[in-house]
Amino acid sequence: MSRITVIGVGYVGLVTAVCLAELGHDVTAMDIDTAKIDGLKAGEVPIYEPGLTELIAKNRDRLSFTTDPVEAYASGEFIFVCVDTPPTYSGDADLSRIWSVIENLPPEDGERILIVKSTVPVGTGAAIKVTLAQRGYEHIRYCSNPEFLREGSAIHDFLHPDRVVVGADDAPTRDKVGALYEPLHAPIVKTSVPSAEMIKYASNAFLATKISFINEIANVCEQTGADVRTVAQGMGLDERIGPHFLQAGIGYGGSCFPKDVSALKQLAGNSGYHFQLLTAVIEVNELQKRRVIGKLKRLLGPELRGKHIALLGLAFKPNTDDVREASSIVLAGRLLAEGAHVVAHDPIAMEHIRGMLPSVILAADPYEALEEADAAVLVTEWPEYLELDWERARDLMAQPLVVDGRNSLDGEALARLGFVYEGVGTAAPEDVGTATPGGDDMNTSPSHRVVMD
Ligand code: UDX
Repeated sequence: MSRITVIGVGYVGLVTAVCLAELGHDVTAMDIDTAKIDGLKAGEVPIYEPGLTELIAKNRDRLSFTTDPVEAYASGEFIFVCVDTPPTYSGDADLSRIWSVIENLPPEDGERILIVKSTVPVGTGAAIKVTLAQRGYEHIRYCSNPEFLREGSAIHDFLHPDRVVVGADDAPTRDKVGALYEPLHAPIVKTSVPSAEMIKYASNAFLATKISFINEIANVCEQTGADVRTVAQGMGLDERIGPHFLQAGIGYGGSCFPKDVSALKQLAGNSGYHFQLLTAVIEVNELQKRRVIGKLKRLLGPELRGKHIALLGLAFKPNTDDVREASSIVLAGRLLAEGAHVVAHDPIAMEHIRGMLPSVILAADPYEALEEADAAVLVTEWPEYLELDWERARDLMAQPLVVDGRNSLDGEALARLGFVYEGVGTAAPEDVGTATPGGDDMNTSPSHRVVMD
């Protein structure tokens, strides 16, 4: 078993550290944030990730936390770099934290492998290697080992990966890093540093493209009476397409897709290539977040001023408290700009939105958010919203109207309860229209035709 240093105990670093400890390695995790490290030493986990607290407790003996570089670098041959590379205003990745790690690497004291997990633009590894060589740090080998962890299932994703990508320019380094992952029995893609860096960006950009593609198909479905859920199912059975990431909705968010798609577009632009497809992927996603406004106007009338809109969910997806780039932020901001009264609920993400959108009223539970609401918008498909007592919700609301931004509710069941239900690219249930806010438009719009899919 190896001794491993992990730099950065953010989301990726913490999951990496604890999972490597779970594989039997001795791991020292370092961060410059004293409060975080003190908390971790006391058993407090600074992020919400299912299973993480338990796994840290289970591996306590093989896992230590420090702010002291001397202690962190004491004996680890493998140094995993898991610091943030947040987007800058230009859309490029901010690499200052990576460079700060490089500047503070230990001097000659035995062979080391520097393994960068943070997402960095293609070419960063080459630049780091030049810097290391200039400093005479021949004892440090370089490896790019991108992560593909999804928030909410990061531990599962680490321990059961579809593949592990190991990019290094010499075979011994590739083999040594690959060996760390052998217990996972996953395909190990051994490649050059630039290819490993590109695999990460290309994977995220492709997944984002899939989402924007299905969202555009959904928008066309709304005009033509087709149902995107059946269309996605029919497409997904083709092995060349596959069933994943074809869930239409109100756009992708989170800390990775928006950042990585922009960074890849910038990277292409900086090297003289205009990546047209990604420009469209980004634009489609931005427009998708705003489409709910048009739907509400069609259903409630053109004037949203004074209307009470309940937003169910704020996190960019369920099982996380992360609201970074969440569709809820754009949607709430647009609704406030229209003069609507916005009341929101999220099981765990509300605190993070308070500072960003102070005019949004935060409700203690979903029913409180729905009280006197003219419409409910499902923004995040948290299980507790799917299992809501919708009969009670209907009685609480001023108008029984649901816009399902994630196509996750049972539209037919809601229609039977008397709701007007509108999904994303979905054909309406047969008995939609028992309540008719917004007037005639309701029953003549193509999106409300009944289609026997
Ligand atoms: C993503 C990648 O999946 C992961 O490999 C990478 O390392 C980090 O970025 P994450 O951001 O945690 O992970 O979330 P993910 O589950 O991939 O969802 C991203 C966004 O896309 C969410 O807003 C989600 O709601 C949306 N999405 C996803 C869709 O709108 N439709 C889909 O079919 C799938």
